[in-house]
Amino acid sequence: MAASSIDDVRAVVHRLFIATAGASLRKEDEQKSREVAALLARLARVRKGAHLVDAAAGKASVGLVAAELLPIAALTVLERDPGRVEACLRAAARLTRPVRIDVRHADVAAAAAWPEAPDAVVALHACGPAADHVIDQAIRARARFVFVVPCCYGEAIPFFARADAVVREQGYVADALLRQRIRASLIDMERKLRLELAGYETELEELVGPTVTPHNLLFRARRAGDPVRIERAAARLAALRGRR
Ligand SMILES: C[S@@+](CC[C@H](N)C(=O)[O-])C[C@H]1O[C@@H](n2cnc3c(N)ncnc32)[C@H](O)[C@@H]1O
Repeated sequence: MAASSIDDVRAVVHRLFIATAGASLRKEDEQKSREVAALLARLARVRKGAHLVDAAAGKASVGLVAAELLPIAALTVLERDPGRVEACLRAAARLTRPVRIDVRHADVAAAAAWPEAPDAVVALHACGPAADHVIDQAIRARARFVFVVPCCYGEAIPFFARADAVVREQGYVADALLRQRIRASLIDMERKLRLELAGYETELEELVGPTVTPHNLLFRARRAGDPVRIERAAARLAALRGRR
Protein backbone atom coordinates (compact mmCIF):
# COMPACT_ATOMS: atom_id res chain seq x y z
CA MET A 1 0.00 0.00 0.00
CA ALA A 2 1.27 3.52 -0.69
CA ALA A 3 1.93 5.77 2.31
CA SER A 4 -0.03 9.02 2.68
CA SER A 5 1.42 12.48 3.15
CA ILE A 6 0.80 14.55 6.28
CA ASP A 7 -1.26 16.96 4.13
CA ASP A 8 -3.51 14.10 2.96
CA VAL A 9 -4.02 13.09 6.58
CA ARG A 10 -4.75 16.66 7.73
CA ALA A 11 -7.33 17.07 4.97
CA VAL A 12 -9.10 13.84 5.92
CA VAL A 13 -9.01 14.62 9.66
CA HIS A 14 -10.60 17.97 8.84
CA ARG A 15 -13.30 16.48 6.60
CA LEU A 16 -14.21 13.58 8.92
CA PHE A 17 -13.93 15.17 12.36
CA ILE A 18 -14.32 18.93 11.92
CA ALA A 19 -16.48 19.17 8.80
CA THR A 20 -17.13 22.89 9.24
CA ALA A 21 -16.14 25.03 6.27
CA GLY A 22 -13.59 27.67 7.24
CA ALA A 23 -12.68 26.08 10.60
CA SER A 24 -9.01 25.17 10.83
CA LEU A 25 -7.36 22.27 12.63
CA ARG A 26 -6.93 22.85 16.37
CA LYS A 27 -3.61 22.15 18.07
CA GLU A 28 -4.80 18.70 19.18
CA ASP A 29 -6.02 17.88 15.64
CA GLU A 30 -2.60 18.84 14.30
CA GLN A 31 -0.94 16.55 16.88
CA LYS A 32 -3.38 13.75 16.03
CA SER A 33 -2.70 14.20 12.30
CA ARG A 34 1.03 13.70 12.90
CA GLU A 35 0.45 10.56 14.95
CA VAL A 36 -2.01 9.17 12.42
CA ALA A 37 0.32 9.91 9.48
CA ALA A 38 3.15 8.08 11.28
CA LEU A 39 0.92 5.07 11.94
CA LEU A 40 -0.43 5.03 8.37
CA ALA A 41 3.16 4.86 7.12
CA ARG A 42 3.55 1.61 9.13
CA LEU A 43 0.09 0.31 8.15
CA ALA A 44 0.99 0.76 4.49
CA ARG A 45 2.79 -2.62 4.81
CA VAL A 46 -0.51 -4.39 5.35
CA ARG A 47 -2.08 -6.14 2.34
CA LYS A 48 -4.61 -4.55 0.00
CA GLY A 49 -8.14 -5.50 1.10
CA ALA A 50 -7.02 -5.89 4.72
CA HIS A 51 -9.26 -6.05 7.78
CA LEU A 52 -8.05 -3.50 10.36
CA VAL A 53 -9.08 -3.28 14.02
CA ASP A 54 -8.80 0.10 15.78
CA ALA A 55 -8.90 -0.75 19.50
CA ALA A 56 -9.41 1.71 22.38
CA ALA A 57 -10.20 3.83 19.37
CA GLY A 58 -11.72 7.00 20.78
CA LYS A 59 -13.35 8.60 17.71
CA ALA A 60 -11.25 6.17 15.60
CA SER A 61 -9.05 8.82 14.03
CA VAL A 62 -6.54 6.16 13.04
CA GLY A 63 -9.02 3.61 11.72
CA LEU A 64 -11.23 6.04 9.82
CA VAL A 65 -8.36 7.97 8.23
CA ALA A 66 -6.83 4.60 7.25
CA ALA A 67 -10.19 3.62 5.74
CA GLU A 68 -10.14 6.77 3.64
CA LEU A 69 -6.49 6.73 2.58
CA LEU A 70 -5.38 3.10 2.49
CA PRO A 71 -6.92 0.34 0.34
CA ILE A 72 -8.26 -1.63 3.31
CA ALA A 73 -11.61 -3.41 2.91
CA ALA A 74 -12.89 -3.62 6.48
CA LEU A 75 -12.52 -1.74 9.75
CA THR A 76 -13.67 -2.87 13.19
CA VAL A 77 -13.69 -0.18 15.88
CA LEU A 78 -13.65 -1.13 19.59
CA GLU A 79 -14.41 1.64 22.11
CA ARG A 80 -16.14 1.58 25.50
CA ASP A 81 -17.13 5.24 25.80
CA PRO A 82 -20.60 5.81 24.29
CA GLY A 83 -19.93 9.48 23.42
CA ARG A 84 -16.83 8.54 21.46
CA VAL A 85 -18.69 5.72 19.73
CA GLU A 86 -21.29 8.29 18.60
CA ALA A 87 -18.56 10.67 17.37
CA CYS A 88 -17.00 7.79 15.47
CA LEU A 89 -20.30 6.88 13.80
CA ARG A 90 -20.84 10.51 12.74
CA ALA A 91 -17.35 10.65 11.22
CA ALA A 92 -17.77 7.24 9.54
CA ALA A 93 -20.84 8.58 7.73
CA ARG A 94 -18.52 11.05 5.93
CA LEU A 95 -16.24 8.39 4.44
CA THR A 96 -16.09 8.35 0.66
CA ARG A 97 -14.53 4.87 0.19
CA PRO A 98 -16.70 1.73 0.32
CA VAL A 99 -15.09 0.16 3.42
CA ARG A 100 -17.09 -2.21 5.68
CA ILE A 101 -17.22 -0.39 9.02
CA ASP A 102 -18.26 -2.15 12.22
CA VAL A 103 -18.23 0.13 15.26
CA ARG A 104 -18.54 -1.89 18.47
CA HIS A 105 -19.35 -0.31 21.81
CA ALA A 106 -17.18 -2.75 23.75
CA ASP A 107 -14.40 -3.28 26.23
CA VAL A 108 -11.17 -4.36 24.55
CA ALA A 109 -10.75 -7.01 27.28
CA ALA A 110 -13.84 -8.86 25.98
CA ALA A 111 -12.75 -11.65 23.65
CA ALA A 112 -16.23 -11.83 22.08
CA ALA A 113 -15.90 -8.24 20.82
CA TRP A 114 -12.94 -9.11 18.61
CA PRO A 115 -13.09 -10.39 15.04
CA GLU A 116 -10.99 -13.48 14.31
CA ALA A 117 -7.70 -13.20 12.44
CA PRO A 118 -7.68 -9.51 11.46
CA ASP A 119 -4.79 -8.44 9.27
CA ALA A 120 -3.79 -5.68 11.66
CA VAL A 121 -4.66 -4.25 15.06
CA VAL A 122 -3.84 -0.67 15.93
CA ALA A 123 -4.22 0.97 19.36
CA LEU A 124 -3.01 4.55 19.72
CA HIS A 125 -2.68 5.80 23.32
CA ALA A 126 -4.35 2.74 24.79
CA CYS A 127 -4.47 3.87 28.41
CA GLY A 128 -3.04 1.79 31.25
CA PRO A 129 -4.26 -1.80 31.20
CA ALA A 130 -6.07 -1.27 27.87
CA ALA A 131 -2.68 -1.69 26.15
CA ASP A 132 -2.29 -5.08 27.87
CA HIS A 133 -5.79 -6.20 26.95
CA VAL A 134 -5.19 -5.19 23.33
CA ILE A 135 -1.94 -7.17 23.23
CA ASP A 136 -3.57 -10.25 24.79
CA GLN A 137 -6.65 -10.14 22.58
CA ALA A 138 -4.69 -9.42 19.39
CA ILE A 139 -2.59 -12.51 20.17
CA ARG A 140 -5.71 -14.57 20.91
CA ALA A 141 -7.42 -13.38 17.72
CA ARG A 142 -4.26 -14.27 15.74
CA ALA A 143 -3.80 -10.78 14.27
CA ARG A 144 -1.05 -10.72 11.66
CA PHE A 145 0.31 -7.28 12.59
CA VAL A 146 -0.05 -5.38 15.87
CA PHE A 147 0.71 -1.67 16.40
CA VAL A 148 0.27 -0.47 19.99
CA VAL A 149 1.23 2.87 21.52
CA PRO A 150 0.58 2.67 25.29
CA CYS A 151 -0.10 5.62 27.52
CA CYS A 152 -0.09 6.06 31.33
CA TYR A 153 1.54 3.48 33.60
CA GLY A 154 -0.68 3.25 36.69
CA GLU A 155 -1.35 0.54 39.25
CA ALA A 156 -4.13 -1.05 37.21
CA ILE A 157 -1.54 -2.48 34.81
CA PRO A 158 -1.16 -6.21 35.51
CA PHE A 159 2.66 -6.11 35.67
CA PHE A 160 2.80 -2.89 37.74
CA ALA A 161 3.26 -4.56 41.15
CA ARG A 162 6.11 -6.81 40.00
CA ALA A 163 7.83 -3.95 38.11
CA ASP A 164 7.55 -1.78 41.20
CA ALA A 165 9.03 -4.53 43.39
CA VAL A 166 11.97 -4.98 40.97
CA VAL A 167 12.71 -1.25 41.05
CA ARG A 168 12.51 -1.14 44.86
CA GLU A 169 14.97 -4.06 45.09
CA GLN A 170 17.50 -1.70 43.49
CA GLY A 171 17.97 0.40 46.61
CA TYR A 172 20.35 2.75 44.81
CA VAL A 173 17.51 4.00 42.56
CA ALA A 174 16.47 6.62 45.07
CA ASP A 175 14.90 9.24 42.85
CA ALA A 176 11.12 8.94 42.45
CA LEU A 177 11.15 10.12 38.84
CA LEU A 178 13.79 7.58 37.84
CA ARG A 179 11.88 4.82 39.66
CA GLN A 180 8.80 5.76 37.68
CA ARG A 181 10.69 5.67 34.37
CA ILE A 182 12.42 2.36 35.08
CA ARG A 183 9.12 0.83 36.22
CA ALA A 184 7.46 1.97 32.97
CA SER A 185 10.32 0.46 30.96
CA LEU A 186 9.99 -2.87 32.80
CA ILE A 187 6.26 -2.87 32.09
CA ASP A 188 6.99 -2.31 28.40
CA MET A 189 9.67 -5.01 28.43
CA GLU A 190 7.13 -7.49 29.79
CA ARG A 191 4.67 -6.46 27.05
CA LYS A 192 7.25 -6.95 24.35
CA LEU A 193 8.25 -10.38 25.69
CA ARG A 194 4.60 -11.43 25.89
CA LEU A 195 4.23 -10.65 22.19
CA GLU A 196 7.48 -12.46 21.37
CA LEU A 197 6.44 -15.51 23.40
CA ALA A 198 3.28 -15.65 21.29
CA GLY A 199 5.42 -15.75 18.13
CA TYR A 200 5.44 -12.05 17.22
CA GLU A 201 8.64 -10.47 16.00
CA THR A 202 8.41 -7.19 17.92
CA GLU A 203 10.32 -3.93 17.43
CA LEU A 204 10.08 -0.84 19.61
CA GLU A 205 10.49 2.62 18.14
CA GLU A 206 9.43 6.21 18.70
CA LEU A 207 6.32 6.83 16.61
CA VAL A 208 6.73 10.63 16.58
CA GLY A 209 8.98 13.10 18.37
CA PRO A 210 8.40 13.69 22.10
CA THR A 211 7.28 17.25 21.40
CA VAL A 212 4.25 15.83 19.56
CA THR A 213 3.50 13.46 22.47
CA PRO A 214 5.62 12.07 25.31
CA HIS A 215 3.65 8.81 24.98
CA ASN A 216 5.36 7.91 21.73
CA LEU A 217 6.61 4.35 22.18
CA LEU A 218 5.34 2.16 19.35
CA PHE A 219 5.23 -1.64 19.59
CA ARG A 220 5.39 -2.91 16.02
CA ALA A 221 4.77 -6.66 15.91
CA ARG A 222 4.40 -9.22 13.11
CA ARG A 223 3.30 -12.81 13.64
CA ALA A 224 6.30 -14.86 12.52
CA GLY A 225 6.37 -17.94 14.79
CA ASP A 226 10.17 -18.11 14.95
CA PRO A 227 10.94 -20.87 17.50
CA VAL A 228 14.30 -19.36 18.49
CA ARG A 229 12.72 -16.01 19.40
CA ILE A 230 9.90 -17.78 21.24
CA GLU A 231 12.33 -19.81 23.34
CA ARG A 232 14.46 -16.76 24.11
CA ALA A 233 11.37 -14.77 25.09
CA ALA A 234 10.21 -17.56 27.41
CA ALA A 235 13.53 -17.51 29.28
CA ARG A 236 13.62 -13.70 29.52
CA LEU A 237 9.99 -13.47 30.59
CA ALA A 238 10.54 -16.06 33.34
CA ALA A 239 13.54 -14.06 34.60
CA LEU A 240 11.62 -10.77 34.47
CA ARG A 241 8.68 -12.29 36.30
CA GLY A 242 11.08 -13.63 38.95
CA ARG A 243 10.27 -17.24 38.27
CA ARG A 244 13.84 -18.40 37.89
C1 LIG B 1 -6.31 8.28 25.21
S1 LIG B 1 -7.73 7.79 24.33
C2 LIG B 1 -7.06 7.42 22.73
C3 LIG B 1 -8.12 7.36 21.67
C4 LIG B 1 -7.59 7.15 20.25
N1 LIG B 1 -6.96 5.86 20.08
C5 LIG B 1 -6.67 8.27 19.85
O1 LIG B 1 -5.46 8.12 19.94
O2 LIG B 1 -7.21 9.32 19.48
C6 LIG B 1 -8.01 6.17 24.98
C7 LIG B 1 -9.33 5.59 24.56
O3 LIG B 1 -9.39 4.24 24.98
C8 LIG B 1 -10.68 3.97 25.49
N2 LIG B 1 -10.54 2.84 26.40
C9 LIG B 1 -9.79 2.78 27.53
N3 LIG B 1 -9.87 1.57 28.08
C10 LIG B 1 -10.69 0.84 27.27
C11 LIG B 1 -11.18 -0.49 27.32
N4 LIG B 1 -10.84 -1.31 28.30
N5 LIG B 1 -11.99 -0.92 26.32
C12 LIG B 1 -12.34 -0.07 25.32
N6 LIG B 1 -11.92 1.20 25.22
C13 LIG B 1 -11.11 1.66 26.19
C14 LIG B 1 -11.10 5.27 26.17
O4 LIG B 1 -12.48 5.36 26.31
C15 LIG B 1 -10.53 6.29 25.20
O5 LIG B 1 -11.44 6.61 24.19
